[in-house]
Amino acid sequence: MADASNSASGDLQLSHITKSFGEFVAVDDLSLTVPQGSFFALLGPSGCGKTTTLRMIAGLEDPTSGTMHIGTTDITNTRPYKRPVNTVFQNYALFPHLSIFENIAFGLRRRGVKDVKEQVDKVLELVELPHLAQRKPSQLSGGQQQRIAVARAIVNRPALLLLDEPLGALDLKLRRQMQIELKWIQTEIGLTFVHVTHDQEEAMTMADTIAVMNEGRIEQMGSPADLYDNPKTAFVANFLGQSNLIKGKIESNDGANQIVDLFGTKVAVPKARSSAKDSSILVGIRPEKLRIQPEDIAMSGNILTGGTISDVSYIGVSTQYQVEMPWGQELMVFEQNDDGVAPLDKGDRVKLSWEPIFTFGLDGSEDANAGSELHISEDE
Ligand SMILES: Nc1ncnc2c1ncn2[C@@H]1O[C@H](COP(=O)(O)OP(=O)(O)O)[C@@H](O)[C@H]1O
Ligand SMILES: [Mg+2]
Repeated sequence: MADASNSASGDLQLSHITKSFGEFVAVDDLSLTVPQGSFFALLGPSGCGKTTTLRMIAGLEDPTSGTMHIGTTDITNTRPYKRPVNTVFQNYALFPHLSIFENIAFGLRRRGVKDVKEQVDKVLELVELPHLAQRKPSQLSGGQQQRIAVARAIVNRPALLLLDEPLGALDLKLRRQMQIELKWIQTEIGLTFVHVTHDQEEAMTMADTIAVMNEGRIEQMGSPADLYDNPKTAFVANFLGQSNLIKGKIESNDGANQIVDLFGTKVAVPKARSSAKDSSILVGIRPEKLRIQPEDIAMSGNILTGGTISDVSYIGVSTQYQVEMPWGQELMVFEQNDDGVAPLDKGDRVKLSWEPIFTFGLDGSEDANAGSELHISEDE
């Protein structure tokens, strides 16, 4: 049996996994499939249950209920060391007294592999650090140590590599660089990666599929582009990028569109992109999809008039406007600085427009602010 688990391969499947600590439910009826060979990200704010989920996959924590498979092999009750799984944590925990070479060779030697050199050299090449083989961990930078931690995990060729905020301790620039490298390594060797992060940009950059977690549950799962373009909940709309969410009422249908009243103005929302359950709707538009013009200029598409610019931030590639609407709500507009026209000024009266296809609709019962206060800033 042990060998069967160790060599299990295929998709990772979690079915109705729940983990309670006493009364507290940390992971709540979670089901997901991670296709073999894909890069999967678990994204969510601190405390939403990401690490607990990862620890259950690794076998370090027993689920309260539910099952776990790799391919057709049930690993729910398999001991951690018998799972075809390796984990890389934020604190890399290299063995300080061993050389880099021996750190990487450790798992191979433990499994009784005789000739380790070829395999160790290969992964050192992969992480582009062959010249550091004889150093000790303390003689490496944080970023280099992190790459060695990845090398040490992948040399064992696990079916599944789990990464728990592995880049969290690195500064922003190095983190961005490591994201690209890790993604490259994953593509190169074709292992399945399950990567945990609270950084939405990190998840977007690296993952084929993202599962957005909130309070122990999956809010939505999909490709980065799909989640960004078609959020189904306010939490996803706000946590993954920023969104303008405006309360409205669906008045009628017109072909492929719902016609929605937004404080007296009619706008079109594609039916296919609306998850409103009845006539109450939150109309969503991403800030970069909005166009902004002085009130007297003609515009097409969905149009909202009567705005007043309450704040302007010029940030080089773009200008970010806050626009106060007649009903008191502030909307965000990001405009590329690519037309040579000077930005509009604070206090200017403006109208906003956007193409109806860029609109998404959320159910009116959603909390428009869900997830927005949890946003991770660039320099955090
Ligand atoms: N061993 C434990 N006992 C009690 N509560 C725990 C334990 N481990 C985690 N939790 C709680 O479960 C929730 C999810 O934790 P965790 O999975 O670490 O979140 P994340 O990794 O998303 O930040 C948190 O509220 C945390 O305090
Ligand atoms: Mg965690």
